[in-house]
Amino acid sequence: THAADLAGHHVVVSAGGTREPLDPVRFLGNRSSGKQGYALARTAAARGASVTLIAANTTGLPDPAGVEVVPVGTAVQLREAVIKAAAHADAVVMAAAVADFRPAAYATGKIKKKDGEDPEPITLVRNPDILAEISGDRPRPGQVIVGFAAETDDVLANGRTKLRRKGCDLLVVNEVGERKTFGSEENEAVVLGADGSETPVPYGPKEALADTVWDLVAQRLA
Ligand code: C5P
Repeated sequence: THAADLAGHHVVVSAGGTREPLDPVRFLGNRSSGKQGYALARTAAARGASVTLIAANTTGLPDPAGVEVVPVGTAVQLREAVIKAAAHADAVVMAAAVADFRPAAYATGKIKKKDGEDPEPITLVRNPDILAEISGDRPRPGQVIVGFAAETDDVLANGRTKLRRKGCDLLVVNEVGERKTFGSEENEAVVLGADGSETPVPYGPKEALADTVWDLVAQRLA
């Protein structure tokens, strides 16, 4: 158990995965369930923090007790909600899987297939990188910013590069695998610090990883 070491602190957590609409019935999405972000929100609240959870398409997960939940759909909506909430936050943890790209155009009517015609290609445009943006230009001075990265190979080397590129204080690096990460109840990760620290978190419940993240955040807030 942890003391109420986050009492008096406001934290923002993003969770889930963005959906980028093509037309009223279709979207580009990803496999993020939102479970790691919800575990972060629950554990922060249990440790006394006031928590805003920006939830991208996490229907099916119960709202954590005592947590303010802001539902969003797209990366652009998630960016707005995060930046607004981050203005009064001591820490921001970006656990959401944010789409790097969105369709350049939205069709207001359902896209139809036409007999004998090839489908139209989908043109993508870049989404804003919210983590890089708030890390470079902190909505509130001195706040601690945490990112997540799912990697399939060279996990640590790629994680270090990503930590520097994003400019955040901590980066939780997951190896994407069969039983791990997406949709599962367990996770295994290494938390890299901008100060060069490396904290391995063994395979276990997403709450345990969440508590390690808050330990590292609490150290940096102290
Ligand atoms: O670059 P990559 O998508 O691997 O980075 C993952 C981290 O960056 C996550 O913390 C995610 O929430 C954040 N991210 C973001 N905006 C994006 C893409 C990712 O904030 N457009």
